[in-house]
Amino acid sequence: MDNNRICRLFGIEHPIIAGGMVWCSGWRLASAVSNAGGLGLLGAGSMHPETLREHIRKTKGATDKPWGVNIPLMYPEMDSVLGIIEEERVPIVFTSAGSPKKYTRWLHDRGIKVAHVVSSSKFAIKCEEAGVDAIVAEGFEAGGHNGREESTTMTLIPQVRKATTLPLIAAGGIASGQAMLASMALGAEGVQMGTVFALSKESSASDAYKQACTAIDEGGTMLCLKKIAPTRLLRNGLFNRISEAEARGANADELRQLLGAKASKRGIFEGDTENGEMEIGQIASDIKTIDSVEDIMNRITTEYKETKQRIITL
Ligand SMILES: Cc1cc2nc3c(=O)[nH]c(=O)nc-3n(C[C@H](O)[C@H](O)[C@H](O)COP(=O)(O)O)c2cc1C
Repeated sequence: MDNNRICRLFGIEHPIIAGGMVWCSGWRLASAVSNAGGLGLLGAGSMHPETLREHIRKTKGATDKPWGVNIPLMYPEMDSVLGIIEEERVPIVFTSAGSPKKYTRWLHDRGIKVAHVVSSSKFAIKCEEAGVDAIVAEGFEAGGHNGREESTTMTLIPQVRKATTLPLIAAGGIASGQAMLASMALGAEGVQMGTVFALSKESSASDAYKQACTAIDEGGTMLCLKKIAPTRLLRNGLFNRISEAEARGANADELRQLLGAKASKRGIFEGDTENGEMEIGQIASDIKTIDSVEDIMNRITTEYKETKQRIITL
């Protein structure tokens, strides 16, 4: 596929990144994506530091291709995690949910490549100032935590493209070669996909979560929790209780109480599909089967090439 700046930066064959995802992105998923020529990321957000170390070591044993770790910057034990990143010689880190200024220099000083996730051009400019190597611009179609701006990928990518010259990765609502090509047409040089890999065989999410997410129709997810952190969720019992509370003006503390402890673990990992927090993206309504990473990567790269060819002859 395209040997572009993203491929060269990370040393990968296809400019396809599997976003780090809480309760989904363990060593099986990360190594399978890397082995298929993309970039697999471990999702540190749901791992205790020593669990992360274990997943890093298993990833090293399962692939000799490039891979990386996603660290949401609100992670409570940042010092321990950074110690492990350094000791285990992690080559690539994708940071999210915080300021890129905080750790980029520290990571660069250790020879680690850094990409940062943003939801607006304003934050993309901050990434450029912080000296990151690449930007992930994520539209609010995406599963999980989202930007307050509610910018779609279609509107976000061209504006971030104009705002920065850095290598640009599009995310949010992308699960096909067609959508990947569209992202490239808008100015991206790579794509980060979450939902499609969360619902793969290698994802560590529960079967109940995968079944529930592949059963939804259009409109089956919605953004909520703007008073805490805007999050796209499947519309289950918990979601209904949250939106009722939001409609009557519940404050952040009440919403936190309603969510309860470990809400995303309950929904994604333990498979309590009615009362757990079911983070998933809009594009889940277009995913009806639970496939292996190899099949997903083959499908997307084939669709990409065929669609590119078709567009040329239009
Ligand atoms: C279940 C789930 C958990 C996620 N957890 C994280 C996370 O821990 N850190 C992060 O930066 N992004 C997280 N994301 C976002 C993904 O990394 C990715 O950017 C996003 O899913 C892309 O949009 P898509 O879902 O439409 O493919 C999560 C997404 C999902 C679906």
